[in-house]
Parts: sequence; structure tokens; C-alpha cells
Amino acid sequence: MSSKTATKPRILTGDTPTGQLHLGHYVGSVKRRIELQDTYECFFLIANMHAFTTRANEPDEVRRDCIEIVRDQLAMGVDPDKSSFVIQTEVPAISELTYLFAMLLPFNRVMRNPTLKEEIKVKGLGDTYSFGFPLYVVGQTADILAFRAHAVPVGEDQVPHLELTREVARRFNQMYCGVSDQAEDADHVKLGGVFPVPVADVGTVGKLMGYDGKQKMSKSLGNAIFITDTEKQIRKKVAKLFTGRQSPTEPGDPTNVLFQYVECFIEDEDRVAELKDRYARGDNIGDGHIKQEVAEAINTLLEPMRQRRAQYEGNDDTIMDILKSGCAHAIEVTEQTLALAKEAARLGFFEREVRYR
Ligand code: TRP
Repeated sequence: MSSKTATKPRILTGDTPTGQLHLGHYVGSVKRRIELQDTYECFFLIANMHAFTTRANEPDEVRRDCIEIVRDQLAMGVDPDKSSFVIQTEVPAISELTYLFAMLLPFNRVMRNPTLKEEIKVKGLGDTYSFGFPLYVVGQTADILAFRAHAVPVGEDQVPHLELTREVARRFNQMYCGVSDQAEDADHVKLGGVFPVPVADVGTVGKLMGYDGKQKMSKSLGNAIFITDTEKQIRKKVAKLFTGRQSPTEPGDPTNVLFQYVECFIEDEDRVAELKDRYARGDNIGDGHIKQEVAEAINTLLEPMRQRRAQYEGNDDTIMDILKSGCAHAIEVTEQTLALAKEAARLGFFEREVRYR
């Protein structure tokens, strides 16, 4: 039996495909995925329908981004023999459950979701957004519950979506499976509920700052370090990290942006402690020197990623094979969920099968 089908607690997380991954993605989520893939049954969802909430007019670009996000995760070290990559639109159970779950959530409850409100503001959508835009929030509850995931590793901004997901799970189990409204979340399945009430596993690493030292690392802000950057580009970018410190003897702030990089990328903990101590005391240690060490550490981290990346570069067939096998595994799991959910809600009439040619 492959490690994929063993009975381990199940994890699902996902990304809206937006293009190249950078070190912020690695530090904030992909690193955690790589750690989790040995102990959990992992599904990594590529939320291409969510990309259509704002980019329905760019189908080719969205499709390309789906392939690229898989390629980048493989390069970073996600192992396709252990984890399943899933294309959202190849999993019909997600769409069907979205429609059903939309009936269990008050409209205004969805519209009050702070992450949704923030996105409407940041993206400048005003009141011109599509009907499907707020629907993605309901869709995300279906992404998670279709897999009956136990835990969802996400960043802080996704916590409201997880709260909504937990509400849907509870409401469904109470309404259709006879689970008491007094039941503890952890007992729902034991008491006959179809859906485990999933927990958010919020990463401890905050947002990695961009090399401008001012804003969160982001491709669109032009302050990102990509895993495809050369050694030289890395050194140049890290050298730009601005701290405002004037001289090697000026006591520095060991919680500044440069030290966020020290903590994230220098592996040797004794060395990190020493650097912090000397920096705080202004013990003749220049920013330039620390930046060199950081750049070297990043290059060491990226070296195996560059090699793996080269192996998958221009090799879309391999990526498609990986996706197909991940989606097939997803179909097994989610069709079972869907059948159980439709039976519980008295919506199922016939047995059926989904398969790819
Ligand atoms: N909304 C998430 C983001 O923008 C992506 C996502 C889609 C997701 N479906 C998910 C995350 C399911 C966790 C679980 O980052």
C-alpha cells in the first residue's frame, strides 16, 4: 500500500493560482506542507475556480498558473508520492457541495466575512463584483469538507473561512445526521456526523517581509525573492534589505527585518543567537556582513530547489501525470463524502461513478 492510501489524519490546504511562488510562500506555507507530508494524508488544492472570481477573462493565464504552482511546489520539495495535488475544477463533489452548503449559511453571514470584505476593498471591486465572488467563500467550505479534512494549515487571513467551514460542518451534522447541538466538535463523527469539524492550523511564521524591508513579500510589489533567482540575484536582493543602521558599532534591533531573514534562513541556532547578541550590543558587526551570511544561507536552501526545478522545467507531461493521479485520489475520497452527504440530506437517488479517461 502506498503511503498515500494509508489511514492517517487528513489535511487539506489550497492556493488560488496567481503565478510564481516566492520565498514568502515557502516560509509561510510550503515548508510546513513538506513537514506534514510524512505524518498526514495531504491534499494540496489548486483553486482555479477561485481564480475565476476575478480573472474569468484570462483562462489561458489561469491554466498556466495552475501548472506553475505545482511545478514550484515540487521544486520546493513537496513529494508527489506522498501528497496529492488536486485541481479544484476536476472534483465535481466540490461544486455540488457548494450549492448545498450555500443553503446552510445565511447570506449576510457570508457577506460579513472580514477576509471577503478586505478583498473587495483591496482589489477595488466596489459593488461591481460577480455573484460568484462571495460564493467562493462558500466554495472554500466545500473544498475542505469534501475531503473530510481534520486540519487545514493556513495563514491568519484564512481563519474566518475556517470558522465558516466549522459552522457548516456543525449545522449539517445537526440538521441531517442527528448530532446534538450540545456535542463537542471533536465528537461529531463519532456521534454519526458526516463531517469532522476541522481545525485551523495557523502557521507561527508571520509574513515574510520583502527585500524592500517595508512591505510583505509579494510578486506584484516587486520585492520578492524567487526560487528561480540566480545566486548573484539573491546576493543583490538581500544586500538591499534596509535597516537604517549606520555603523557596525551602533547597537542594532535584533527584531528588525534583517533579523527576520536571519531567523528564517540561518539554520545554525547557536550562530543566530551569537549574531543577535553581537548586533544588539553593536559589537563590531556590520549589516553588510550579516546580509552576506543570509544570502549564502538562502542560496544553500535554494540549491536543491534549483536542481529539482530544472528536472521539471519544460516538462508539462510529468506535471499533468502528477495532477491526474492526485485528482484520481481526490475523486475517490470526495465522491464517498458526496454520497454520504446526499444520503443524509435525502438528496441522493442513484449510485454513480466519476472517472477520468
Ligand atoms: N482562499 C485561499 C487563499 O487565497 C485558497 C484556498 C482555496 C484554500 N481553497 C482552500 C485554503 C481550502 C485552504 C483550504 O489563500
